[in-house]
Amino acid sequence: MTAGQADALQRLWPTWGLDIDGQRVLDLTEMFGNGNPVVLEIGFGMGEATAQMAGADPDTNILAVDVHTPGQGNLLNLADQQGLSNVRVGNGDAIILLREMLTPGSLAGLRVYFPDPWPKKRHHKRRLIQPEFLDLAATRLGPGAIVHCATDWEPYAEQMLEVLTAHPGFENAQPEGGFAPRPEFRPLTRFEGQGLEKGHVVNDLLFRRVEHVIAHKDQPPTGA
Ligand SMILES: C[S@@+](CC[C@H](N)C(=O)[O-])C[C@H]1O[C@@H](n2cnc3c(N)ncnc32)[C@H](O)[C@@H]1O
Repeated sequence: MTAGQADALQRLWPTWGLDIDGQRVLDLTEMFGNGNPVVLEIGFGMGEATAQMAGADPDTNILAVDVHTPGQGNLLNLADQQGLSNVRVGNGDAIILLREMLTPGSLAGLRVYFPDPWPKKRHHKRRLIQPEFLDLAATRLGPGAIVHCATDWEPYAEQMLEVLTAHPGFENAQPEGGFAPRPEFRPLTRFEGQGLEKGHVVNDLLFRRVEHVIAHKDQPPTGA
């Protein structure tokens, strides 16, 4: 961690940081100070793309979550320097955040850019985008919310396409199905740049949360 990142964490965490402790249910309107739609980004890395997207769309709030402390400091610094009031930085596991701290239908979107690919077969179960994860995410996303994934690992892209297409809570935003053309609003991420240098092919996926209710085996947090 650089001195700048450490300084940002110390100065800015009390105002813009969120400890993902699973101990309370969040009021996102209170947290952001407005009722604008909230998009969850899981695994923002160093946060450059997050900051760019926040600056380009100030009427959308971004709850950006990662476990990587230098990246949290970096994103806080970028948000501070660029005066981005629509970013909050979470430290911890996004699954706990979704399951324990977010209410049903509270999210207007979900972004997962270049999640850890876990290329070895015995590690595939660690991949984030799986049917169980989608069951949980579907409960926290409001109708019409967009799930946007991107990866440079083609077997994982195929898995994402397969599980998202099969899930009753989502429909492909591409009328003809398949991968989406890279949307202009998604900046190049750090991890993506590394993948492209290795000659990897990048795939984007855009899926929409459909209207009907999905039951999840975990009880949604009620705040009670
Ligand atoms: C391969 S990096 C990609 C970072 C960034 N999106 C990019 O494209 O440069 C994946 C990130 O996801 C984070 N991550 C993985 N699982 C997570 C989880 N359950 N909750 C929060 N962050 C997670 C990792 O710490 C890592 O920073």
